[in-house]
Amino acid sequence: MTDKNWKEVAKAADIQPDEPVKVSVGSEEIALYNVDGDIFATHNICTHAYASMADGFQEGVEIECPLHEGRFNIKTGKALCAPVTEGLQTYEVKVDGGAVFVKI
Ligand code: FES
Repeated sequence: MTDKNWKEVAKAADIQPDEPVKVSVGSEEIALYNVDGDIFATHNICTHAYASMADGFQEGVEIECPLHEGRFNIKTGKALCAPVTEGLQTYEVKVDGGAVFVKI
């Protein structure tokens, strides 16, 4: 783990299906999701207004914003329905020794 762009952010066992978790890397807020046993990461703040995606409602590969119910694809960040039009930034994730690393 010498690549300094990879940041350890969580334990994989703490990211449960349909229970997104917010982590911080410096000033960056990131949401982690478990989709069918694989971990994915997006920026935590909705692209529509200031809402925490980790407080939203995950259903499989989709996350619904808790504020106005905009939905995004967790794997691609793509905006799926109004009022969101701009996608969420996604991050590369790897799991090593039970720890989750996000590439920042
Ligand atoms: Fe997320 Fe409005 S803040 S849909």
